[in-house]
Formats: sequence, structure tokens, C-alpha cells
Amino acid sequence: MSDRMEELQRRHAAAEAGGGEERRARQHAEGKLSARERIDLLLDEGTFEEMDKLVRHHCRDFGMDEQMIDGDGFITGYGLIHGRPAYVFAQDFTVFGGSLSEANAKKIVKIMDLALKTGAPVIGLNDSGGARIQEGVLSLGGYADIFLRNTLASGVIPQISAIMGPCAGGAVYSPALTDFVFMVDKTSYMFVTGPDVIKTVTHEDVTKEALGGATTHNATSGVAHFQSHDDAECLRTIRELMGYLPQNNRDAAPAGDTDDPADREDASLDTLIPSASNQPYDIKDVIRRVADHEEFLEVHEHWARNIVVGFVRMEGRSVGVVANQPAFLAGCLDIDSSTKGARFVRFCDAFNIPILTFEDVPGFLPGTAQEFGGIIRHGAKLLYAYAEATVPKITVITRKAYGGAYCVMGSKHLRTDVNLAWPTAEIAVMGAEGAVNIVYRRELAGAANPESVRQEKIEEFRERFASPFVAAENGFVDDVIEPRQTRPRVIRALRMLATKVDTMPKKKHGNIPL
Ligand code: HXC
Repeated sequence: MSDRMEELQRRHAAAEAGGGEERRARQHAEGKLSARERIDLLLDEGTFEEMDKLVRHHCRDFGMDEQMIDGDGFITGYGLIHGRPAYVFAQDFTVFGGSLSEANAKKIVKIMDLALKTGAPVIGLNDSGGARIQEGVLSLGGYADIFLRNTLASGVIPQISAIMGPCAGGAVYSPALTDFVFMVDKTSYMFVTGPDVIKTVTHEDVTKEALGGATTHNATSGVAHFQSHDDAECLRTIRELMGYLPQNNRDAAPAGDTDDPADREDASLDTLIPSASNQPYDIKDVIRRVADHEEFLEVHEHWARNIVVGFVRMEGRSVGVVANQPAFLAGCLDIDSSTKGARFVRFCDAFNIPILTFEDVPGFLPGTAQEFGGIIRHGAKLLYAYAEATVPKITVITRKAYGGAYCVMGSKHLRTDVNLAWPTAEIAVMGAEGAVNIVYRRELAGAANPESVRQEKIEEFRERFASPFVAAENGFVDDVIEPRQTRPRVIRALRMLATKVDTMPKKKHGNIPL
């Protein structure tokens, strides 16, 4: 018995030592935590239950039989976050660069299967060179097994990926299939092929930071949703995000108590919209003033900044916010902002999180770059996402709601439940100037004094259409409200919608314009 106990202790110690002191020191010197330190920070203290700590790889080629490490460099198991169960895996870069073997792929598959059966989120802390080169197709098969689970779990349990080191190949495709991707600045990278391969194939010179660093994927490609300064901040933000998410698609969005009064009015909202309708303001000021305690967890903060998405709480309950941002590109919808908004709306809809939309959009961004890039297809994604969403939907038009963008951004016609407008709302096919130039082209060309006719007609158009009242007369907005009342009105609408049930026609799945 004591021999067995000794062996058990030895094996546990070997698993915990990973790739050894020297490699661990290198990990720390690079500003990275070890895989076990990361799990400790992610989970509620002392709640981690490890599984498969004694698993070893089965590779006998390339001298691998001499290099067996218990756990095989992946730490998997479950624990609690804010007292609720979550499954977690963390790759230990000190063991074969965190690469995926057949054996440790099975470890991940095991916890993902459990997560699906028990209805709890999965969080992956990735620090991996991808498929273990020495294992060839066995490793590739392991990745494909994980990709299948990622896909089956999509929309059933939340899946979160943190990129906490250099991640290549399969180590980026699995995160890409998950709901939220976090990256740590200056220590994490994501690429399908690294700078050396690129140099050989395309002769491009690019650093790994420029190719796949946190800023690149947060601001340029949109592959990542959150950027953190270090591992600790990344793990803290994952915990914060988890506080807004249900455990699974049968669960309600989390609700807690708040001491921020539901009937709190904010007089500063009455004067927030600038008097000139082409002047910008920051829509995040509106979001914060309406939310509980002005707290807003922004998602995709650095990408497609003309739309803002993220989570707030209203009366303690999670709500997803989608808002045009007049302070960036005048809040126009373009390819990236449509994709960003659509993805977020679909996440909220999949996980029973009500959607609150703030609308101030002058239309779709014109130009050849957008048309050649397929704005028609990408803009349709946002339209599709709003139309198919069956969660409670509330839209507040703060200023512009022009053209197709009026239809797209949670309009009444896409079965939004409660549509409100501020008195500053302008709801029309297009701006008054553009409208007059088209509708009165002939008249203006023949007029003795075209400029004065133009101004007169523009005024007439503004008077009739650049207001919320025609929409209100037709029931397309349910009420025109004083801006200061936005929080109480939205909260009362959310209460009314708490028991909402809506469905889609029976189908296998739709065909969102990808
Ligand atoms: C086995 C690996 C490995 C891998 C790294 N290592 N990647 N071992 N399989 N894929 C080992 C190294 O041999 C080294 O071992 C240790 O991990 C650390 O690696 P370094 O190169 O010293 O670290 P660094 O300089 O930080 O570079 C990290 C890296 C680089 C950028 C990840 O190692 C790299 O490019 N690795 C290969 C990436 C790759 O092409 N993977 C296959 C992708 S294909 P020692 O003993 O020296 O510590 C794939 C297909 C999936 O994943 C399917 C997708 C659809």
C-alpha cells in the first residue's frame, strides 16, 4: 500500500512539475503564469477538481517513449466560478510546447462531453503550438474530435477561449469556434501559419506581433473580443463575463439584486444629443447612464467601433446592448460592424439574454470598398440575426434611423417587442438634403432661384420626416419618451417581457448569409 501511495505521490508531483523548472522559469520570465496558476486565478478558491492527471501519451516514435510526463501537458477538470460549475482546460507550454497529442485531446473531449451533459460552460486556456508534430494524424484526429464538440456545444453551453501564449494551427481553430476569445497583450499570438512559413510562401516579412498579436486580432481582424494587459487581468475579465452568462441555453440569464433604483431618471440624457444633427456624441454615455450602477462590459471594444456591443444589468438582470456609435464613422453600418452586431445578437438570442438596442444610424456606409467587399451579404447578417431573435427585444431610437439601417436595427417590423424614440429621433428614408436633391431634381434645375427652393423643400422634409412622430402615428414606435425616462421605461418593458415566448417555424436550421 505504501509503495502505491509513494507512486501516486510521485506521479502527481511529476504532473505538477510539467516540463521542468527551467522551462517554467522561462514561462515566468516572459510574463506568463503557469497553467496551474492560471486555473487557480480563474476558479473560486480551492474548487478545482482535476481529471486525467495521470494520462500519458502513447507515441513511441522520435524518442518520445523516453519523454513521458503524467498529464501530458494538459490540465483538465472542473470547478466553480461565482459559485456556479464550469469546466476548464489549460495547456502547459512547458510540455512539448502545449502541443495536442491524441491522449490529451481525449482529456478535452471528456470534459466537453460532461459539460454538454451537465449544461455548464467550458473555458479553454490556450498556450499551444498546435498539433503535436511527432504524432502526425493521431493529433490531427484529436483536433477534429474537439472541433466537433465545439460545434455541437455552440448555442448550448457558453464556450470561452483565452489565448495566453503562441497559438498555431488547431490551437486557433478551436477558439475560433467558441463564443468569446480573449488575448493577452504582448504574450499571445494566433496564426494559422507563422512568420517563417509566410516568408517562404509569399516572401512577406512580418513579425509575429503584427501578424497575430492581441492588437491585430482585437482591432484589425476581429478574431478576438477582449484584450488584457496580463494573464491576471485576462482571467479576472473572464470571471466578470461569466457573471453575465447563463449556464446553458435552458437556463435564464443571471439575475441578482441591485440597489440602483429601477425608477432612477437621468436628467443629463435630455441634453446629451447635440443640437446639430451631424455632431457626434458618445453612445457609451447613454448606455452607462441607463445601466445599473453605470457598469458596462464591452465586447469587441477595439474592432468595428461604429457599433458598440456588450453586457449591462438592468434591475440586476443581464441584458445585451447593441448600439450605433455616432462618435465613430458617424455610426454608419459597414461590413465589420454588421458582422460584429450580428454575432452578438445571435449569442444573446441563443442564451436567453434580452437585447436592448440604441439606434443612431445615418445608413449603410457608401463606397466601392464596401460594395466590392460584400456589404449586401454582411449587412444581411445583422438583419437576419435581429429577425430570427426571439428573446425580449427593446429598441430606443436616440437620433437617426435612416433607410435600410432603420429596418435592420431592431425595428418593429423585425418583431421587436417595445420600440421607443427620443424626441430628437429622425426616422426617414434618407436625410432631408439627399431626399430633396432626388425628389426635386427637375424642379430645382428649372427654378429661377434653385438655392432658395432647395432650402424651402429641405425644411419641409425635415419638418415632416426628421422626427419620431410619423413613426409614432403609425405604431412603428410605441411611444416617444423624454430621454431622462429611458432607464425606468426600459426596465418596465423588461419586466413585462420576462415571460415572453416566441418561436421560429420548424426547420433544421436557417441559412444565414455567411
Ligand atoms: C511538438 C512542439 C510543437 C508542436 C512547439 N513544440 N510546437 N512540439 N509539436 N507543434 C516544442 C518545441 O519543440 C520546444 O521544445 C517547445 O515546444 C517550445 O517551442 P519553441 O519553438 O522553443 O517556443 P517559441 O520560440 O516560443 O515558439 C512557439 C511556436 C513554435 C511559435 C508555437 O514552437 C512553433 O511554430 N511551433 C510549431 C507550430 C505549428 O506549426 N504547429 C502545427 C500546426 S498544424 P523544447 O524541448 O525545446 O522545449 C495544426 C493542425 C490542426 O495544428 C488542424 C487545423 C485545422
